Amino acid sequence: MSTDMQNQLAIIDHGEGDEPLSTRQMNPLFSSILEARLGRRQILKGSAGAAAVGFMGLGLSGCLSDSDSDDDNGTAEPAPAPAALLGFSAVPVSSADTIVVPEGYSHQVLIPWGTPITGDFPAWSVNSTGADQASQIGSHHDGMHFFPINDSSEDGLLVLNHEYIEPRLMHASAQGVALSGGAVPPLVGGKRPDDEVLKEMNAHGVSVVRVVKGVNNDWQVKFDAMNRRITALTPMAIQGPVRGSDFVKTKYSPQGTMTRGTLNNCGNGVTPWNTYMAAEENWAGYFSNGGDNPREHSRYGVPTGANGRYGWESAASGADEYIRFDASIKGASALEDYRNEPLCFGYMVEIDPYDPTSTPVKRTAMGRFAHEGVVFAPAVEGRPVVCYSGDDSRFEYIYKFVTATNYNSATASGSLLDTGTLYVAKFNDDGTGEWLPLVYGQNGLVAPLFTSQADVLVNTRLAADTVGATPMDRPEWGAVDPANGDVYFTLTNNSRRTADQTDEANPRGANPHGHIIRWAETGGDHAATTFDWDIFLFAGTSGTFGSDTSVGQDPKGQPLTADNILSSPDGMWIDPDSRVWIQMDSGATDPFGNCAMLAADPTSGDLKRFLVGPLGQEITGVITTPDQKTMFINVQHPGGNTSPADFAAGNYQSTWPDNNPGQYPPRSATVVIWKDDGGVIGS
Ligand code: FEO
Ligand code: CA
Ligand code: CA
Repeated sequence: MSTDMQNQLAIIDHGEGDEPLSTRQMNPLFSSILEARLGRRQILKGSAGAAAVGFMGLGLSGCLSDSDSDDDNGTAEPAPAPAALLGFSAVPVSSADTIVVPEGYSHQVLIPWGTPITGDFPAWSVNSTGADQASQIGSHHDGMHFFPINDSSEDGLLVLNHEYIEPRLMHASAQGVALSGGAVPPLVGGKRPDDEVLKEMNAHGVSVVRVVKGVNNDWQVKFDAMNRRITALTPMAIQGPVRGSDFVKTKYSPQGTMTRGTLNNCGNGVTPWNTYMAAEENWAGYFSNGGDNPREHSRYGVPTGANGRYGWESAASGADEYIRFDASIKGASALEDYRNEPLCFGYMVEIDPYDPTSTPVKRTAMGRFAHEGVVFAPAVEGRPVVCYSGDDSRFEYIYKFVTATNYNSATASGSLLDTGTLYVAKFNDDGTGEWLPLVYGQNGLVAPLFTSQADVLVNTRLAADTVGATPMDRPEWGAVDPANGDVYFTLTNNSRRTADQTDEANPRGANPHGHIIRWAETGGDHAATTFDWDIFLFAGTSGTFGSDTSVGQDPKGQPLTADNILSSPDGMWIDPDSRVWIQMDSGATDPFGNCAMLAADPTSGDLKRFLVGPLGQEITGVITTPDQKTMFINVQHPGGNTSPADFAAGNYQSTWPDNNPGQYPPRSATVVIWKDDGGVIGS
């Protein structure tokens, strides 16, 4: 976005979409020759290290076999041919302003931004107040999970993130004004009206909403005491090694134990004890500093001398909850200003969805960076809990956290996440990898560079630089295959990697369309410190794979086709049957069409497009009910490419989902999908 003189706010440039610019110092990168993936597979299959069952597993995974082989009469009957994991017909690319699902499937829209869920249930209007928004579903739906009530697949709590906002859609004062998608309405007396700022903060965060299935698959919101909005203002506890350190002492919390709100919640995770984790991704741009720009700001891209992303610090009242976004040094000490406010963000936030009075907790032991999300490996009784998280910026890293205390299902709780080891991934060119511990006193993480574990964690990116982690092509979501424990991560793209910066794990420079990497931990133990890795697929166009870095390749090593070309894989989830659901967040349209969701079979290597969304959006967030007969996905920022002139004229790029542009702008929303025959989604 460009500086908007009309607003008199020097809004920072967020680069591509919602991603701010990384400020890392490049580690030395080793140039390498692009090796054919199948050649790599052969090398790895023959190595002693690739021992995990099912890894490199085209045709090896055994999770799908029927358990009906017991045969009373002892005669050998031929086993029935297993049904294909992906039983649907691929949908074509689409540039229509609608949802496209496969033949035999139906869908409905649920909880668009502004849907009332709590309080006095205020209906959405462009005139809704800031207080109204605190009782309504937030904007820009993202990561999401379904928490069943009494194990039901027809009644549960849908919990979802609201990553960011499009201010021009939110305010009466913006209507008719030529504004870009990131710009705020005209200032009043050089200030932002308080209620606009309040409304924007309340449109961020997380929604907890009870949803029930009615007749004819008609899902509806149930008004319930568990319905809750968590916002950019909700008090949150700081736990883990950073708690109480000087890094997070502020005027609001002189003890360094609390902060207000969560920001830019992108992907999510679910703990083994059934709580929700919301990631804080591109939080840095919401702040600004006065120029001292300590490394805790600079390495994360907190802007200097500019307004924060939406100018919240310039709210007219100057109230404390707004001015905290100005992280300049103003007072005699950190206890008298908000120089440390940006250090209270960049964490994974744990929320108990079943307890509406619970205080969300920022789990600092899991590191401070642009957390895209988090994925937990299946918990094993008597073994540590293990989870993985990517830092979504160009040339940033993939991390793993291993708890110090072993898992006990009877007693497990979030406190497990406060003590343990944070590791960062190093991908060796020979297909092996190492987890490098980020522990104060080890691996160069010593004085004068670091003075404590809290220092290491607050400066996670710098610590990872120091130990020699592998800079990746924007790590987004991770997923774990329940059949064999393989871990998958999307690497969405990297327009800035040059040919001489490539390595085997990031072999394309530039990398316009991204790829998906996967690994098997040594011995099948997620707490292991070594692993073997492979590239699952390369996104891109159809064509001959090789020197043209825009051409993709499917999991079989075959060219992509009209059924499965894709760009910029981002959201990902592996369902209980091992279907790999892959969601696009792509600025590219031709030849990919609108952003879509595909499914892959890691055993056969099949890859098919399952769903396409409306214009200008990304598909993100995916979960099914426990019976896998209902799927929920999110459509974020439909119509997001509406030009300022078209916005002023009321001509939105998309009118989804309401198709009533006179009353409703395009709105982010959840989409419910079911199979007309009542079967498992994807089967
Ligand atoms: Fe919020 Fe990296 O997507
Ligand atoms: Ca994302
Ligand atoms: Ca993305």
